[in-house]
This record gives sequence, C-alpha cells and structure tokens, in this order.
Amino acid sequence: MSEVLNKTVARNIYYGGSLFFLLLFLGLTFHTNANFPERDNRGAITEQVAQGKRLWEENNCIGCHTLLGEGAYFAPELGNVYKRFGNSTEAVKAFIKSRPAQGIPNRRSMPQFNFSDDELEALAQFLKYVSEIKTANWPPNIQG
Ligand code: HEC
Repeated sequence: MSEVLNKTVARNIYYGGSLFFLLLFLGLTFHTNANFPERDNRGAITEQVAQGKRLWEENNCIGCHTLLGEGAYFAPELGNVYKRFGNSTEAVKAFIKSRPAQGIPNRRSMPQFNFSDDELEALAQFLKYVSEIKTANWPPNIQG
C-alpha cells in the first residue's frame, strides 16, 4: 500500500483534486451567470413591476406569504398566484381589494391595505412578472 500511495502520489491527488473541483466550480458559476438573463425574465421588468416590488417590500407581504418559497408560512405561496387566478391581473386586484374576508369563522384572513388603483395594478404586474420567472416548474403544483 505504502508503495502505491507514496507522498508524491498523495500530493498529486491533493493538487489535482483541488484543481479539478476549482475548475468545476468556476465552470458552473459561469454557466449559472450566463443563464440568468434568460431564466429570471429580467426583460419583463417595467417601471410598474419595480413599483410593485417596492410595495411588496414596504407592506411586508413576505411577513405572511412565501414568494418562490422564501418567506413566512402563514398565507399562500404567491409566486404562481397569477396563474392560479387564471392568468388574470384583474382577479389578483379584486382579491386584494376585497379583503378581509367576512363571515368565515376561524379563517385566516388578509388585512385591507387600502391601495390605490395604480398601486393595485403595480402589485398585480409584479406578481405576473414573478409567475413568469423560469423556475424549473417550481412550485410543483398550482396550489403553491
Ligand atoms: C397579515 C398577513 C398577511 C399579509 C401582510 C399579506 N397577506 Fe395576502 N393573504 C393572507 C392570508 C391569510 C391569505 C389567504 C386567506 C384570505 O385572506 O382569503 C392571503 C391571500 C392572498 C392572495 C390570494 C392567494 C390565494 O391563492 O388565494 C393574494 C394575491 C395576496 N394575499 C396578496 C398579498 C399582497 C400583495 C400582500 C402585500 C401587499 C399581502 N398579501 C400581504 C395574509 C396576508
């Protein structure tokens, strides 16, 4: 054993292995970055989408909801809510406008935020944008 795995061989395995995985790491990093423009749908970011994102942050939607898996588990995933609501920004806006749900005992309900029509449109456009990010089909089902 000691004749096969002598010091020189061990050192070569160490350096060779390090180099191999360093190159693999750099290659995958490059590949990931090269694919971002296509995957993250950045061409679809309009001023309205950006405004929706700001409203999303200022109103702490993530304090109750997840967005593509990140966030709190109190309320439904919203990464695909636009699709869940039949690809309709009108339905998304109508839902946010109509909260809180009345007359359903013990149901978790979303608060009323009193958004203006422009703000509702911006939020709906932001959620539409998010639903069109290429996530390799995540979330796996339409319920979120
Ligand atoms: C205090 C917790 C809370 C906050 C903050 C909150 N929501 Fe909600 N949201 C809920 C709950 C609970 C539901 C599901 C129950 C319901 O109200 O019908 C919901 C449902 C939704 C739905 C419908 C999801 C579905 O599949 O039915 C949308 C769209 C939505 N919220 C958008 C937002 C947006 C946009 C914000 C930020 C401006 C936000 N929510 C902030 C609690 C919250």
